[in-house]
Amino acid sequence: MRSIVMLILVSITSIVTTAAANAARDAILADLAAEAKAANAAFTGFSAERGATFFAATHTGGEPDMPSCTTCHSTSPHQPGRTRAGKNIEPMAVSKTPNRYTDAKEVAKWFRRNCKSVLGRECTAVEKGDFLTFMISQ
Ligand code: HEC
Repeated sequence: MRSIVMLILVSITSIVTTAAANAARDAILADLAAEAKAANAAFTGFSAERGATFFAATHTGGEPDMPSCTTCHSTSPHQPGRTRAGKNIEPMAVSKTPNRYTDAKEVAKWFRRNCKSVLGRECTAVEKGDFLTFMISQ
């Protein structure tokens, strides 16, 4: 009996945690959508497909040895990545790393830093929203 109660409690905790993480990601996406709409009234929504292309693409304008998001994050969202210093990076897919993209400040900080390295500029709201939409779908 006690173990059944524990199991139910653990399940409820996990459901609540998941709901909170989803709400946090939704809020980040809503902010980016508002920004995208303000920049371009024709904006109709983010695309996981565009996000996948952006993630895998070889970009120019950034540091020559850092041409792609996949340089550090590995070519698969389901696999761990590696920093230049050789430190492990948890997989980017939400199905693999459920607490990803839940802290707006962290998300903004890493987009700023990584987009600068790879593209030599900040990512647009559409690029960020597409990227997140893709990783959330993975
Ligand atoms: C120089 C290596 C490197 C490159 C290149 C890189 N990243 Fe990252 N990225 C990191 C590290 C390190 C972290 C922080 C550790 C973590 O979140 O696991 C991170 C974290 C992030 C996060 C925050 C994740 C979260 O859970 O909140 C986002 C978003 C992100 N990167 C997007 C990108 C995008 C988009 C690109 C390509 C334009 C990119 N990164 C390229 C190393 C890199």
